[in-house]
Amino acid sequence: MAELLLLNGPNLSILGRRQPEIYGTATLADIEQAVTDELAGAGWKVRAVQSDSEAELIHAIQDGYDTVGAIVNPGALMIAGWSLRDALASYPRPWVEVHLSNVWARESFRHESVIAPLASGVVAGLGALGYRVAARALVALVGA
Ligand code: DQA
Repeated sequence: MAELLLLNGPNLSILGRRQPEIYGTATLADIEQAVTDELAGAGWKVRAVQSDSEAELIHAIQDGYDTVGAIVNPGALMIAGWSLRDALASYPRPWVEVHLSNVWARESFRHESVIAPLASGVVAGLGALGYRVAARALVALVGA
């Protein structure tokens, strides 16, 4: 069965209790379930990886060339995750960058993402819904 890679970076394991006024109350498990539900119609499964370590995210990408596409919330690695960027440059499938918060409405250090130029698209500011939007976009881009 086709699998979608769902990558979440540093500090996203504590969603639900991490600054809920910014990131909402959905937990990472809620988000992984929502993406799973969104992809059920396409017959895709989810390979979910969260890590606070850039190296582990890179390994998940390198081991994920067999996946059909990816959703990537890099957390603060958006700012200077050059090794993550290099890993994504070699990832052979379409992928979408997701941010729960509207990063452009926040501190200026969040306004540029080093990975965004490589993404098929970027979804920001829609909270947990953004992951569903990204999943739907990937089904449309890749074709179920
Ligand atoms: C985030 C935005 C980043 O700037 C921040 O460092 C995060 C979460 C988001 O989902 O809104 O960790 O990626």
